[in-house]
Amino acid sequence: MKAMILRAPGGLDRIVSDTRADPGEPGPGEIRVALHGGSLNYHDLSVALGHMKAEDGRVLLADGAGTVERVGSGVTEFAPGDLVVSTFFPDWQDGPATVGDFARTPGDGMDGFAQEVVVRPATAFTRAPKGYDAAEAATITTAGLTAWRALVADGGLKAGDSVLLLGTGGVSIWALQIARMFGARVAITSSSGEKLERAGEMGADWTLNYREQPEWGRLARDWAGGRGVDHVVEVGGPGTLAQSVEAVRVGGHISLIGVLTGFSGEVPTAALMAKQARLQGLIVGSRRQQQDFVRALEANAVRPVIDRRFALEDLAEAFRYEQGAGHFGKIAVEW
Ligand SMILES: NC(=O)c1ccc[n+]([C@@H]2O[C@H](COP(=O)([O-])OP(=O)(O)OC[C@H]3O[C@@H](n4cnc5c(N)ncnc54)[C@H](OP(=O)(O)O)[C@@H]3O)[C@@H](O)[C@H]2O)c1
Repeated sequence: MKAMILRAPGGLDRIVSDTRADPGEPGPGEIRVALHGGSLNYHDLSVALGHMKAEDGRVLLADGAGTVERVGSGVTEFAPGDLVVSTFFPDWQDGPATVGDFARTPGDGMDGFAQEVVVRPATAFTRAPKGYDAAEAATITTAGLTAWRALVADGGLKAGDSVLLLGTGGVSIWALQIARMFGARVAITSSSGEKLERAGEMGADWTLNYREQPEWGRLARDWAGGRGVDHVVEVGGPGTLAQSVEAVRVGGHISLIGVLTGFSGEVPTAALMAKQARLQGLIVGSRRQQQDFVRALEANAVRPVIDRRFALEDLAEAFRYEQGAGHFGKIAVEW
């Protein structure tokens, strides 16, 4: 069985194809899944570059989807032939967050899905949205569910709300689709005029180039009637937070999810206090939230935006493409 693994200490030239033993038959409560699709996240890129100090030989990718081949005793939720998609936290089933690290995250603390077959607990997967292919399904595990939790599960998004999104990567474009699905109004930033045009075609109401307009926080607040936006999906981190605080309305919600500009920095505490905004750190979501998300995607016939698909053996090339930041939405791999 083929797997794409990372040799320590990491680096894109340290991603190699390896042969692993077949995982065998599923035990009680387990399923055997023939994987066919995965997707790339900034987190996977950090692992591949060696920043997460993953174990030598780690199988890459947090997101995986494929077809159930066989089910172990006691499994009633899935049957052979079902398309299933992995969960980011295989042990967090429901309720408030219980995990604050990546020790059990596939493709980081444990082997991921850049391989042909896995045997895992059935509870580490959900059903994929009907009509999706495996690569499309894989995009919901990390980017999709994070956007869903930020806006819906924790954000309480309502029709008519205003949402500010930063950049046009995987999380932000999923967030754009979710916001539109709920009848919210969307402001989105990008470094590229061409990407902003695409976002506009997808229903973004207001677009802005963050390189040309570094004071985008105030401009986004003005766009939201001078009152400020209800929600910000903060993927930037320390380099963008001050502008996000500027943009949010009094009593609004900022989901702090990203590290695109670094891992620590200044927080404008007085401005945040004056805004009485909820600044919430979050990492992806629970299996129950993923099930809710799948249901919503099916009911609204929404499909992910995949910029480009790579073959599994070209995984290193796919990461180089992500590093170039030329993509809009998700980058997928399939096999
Ligand atoms: N906490 C969580 O659960 C969670 C889950 C998923 C992702 N994340 C984090 O969220 C961030 C985005 O992840 P992703 O997978 O969506 O990444 P991605 O697909 O690689 O997105 C990269 C895009 O981010 C935009 N960007 C970069 N610097 C920016 C800046 N200073 N201001 C605004 N936009 C900027 C760029 O968009 P343009 O090309 O349009 O400029 C770039 O193309 C990462 O930091 C990732 O670690 C966190």
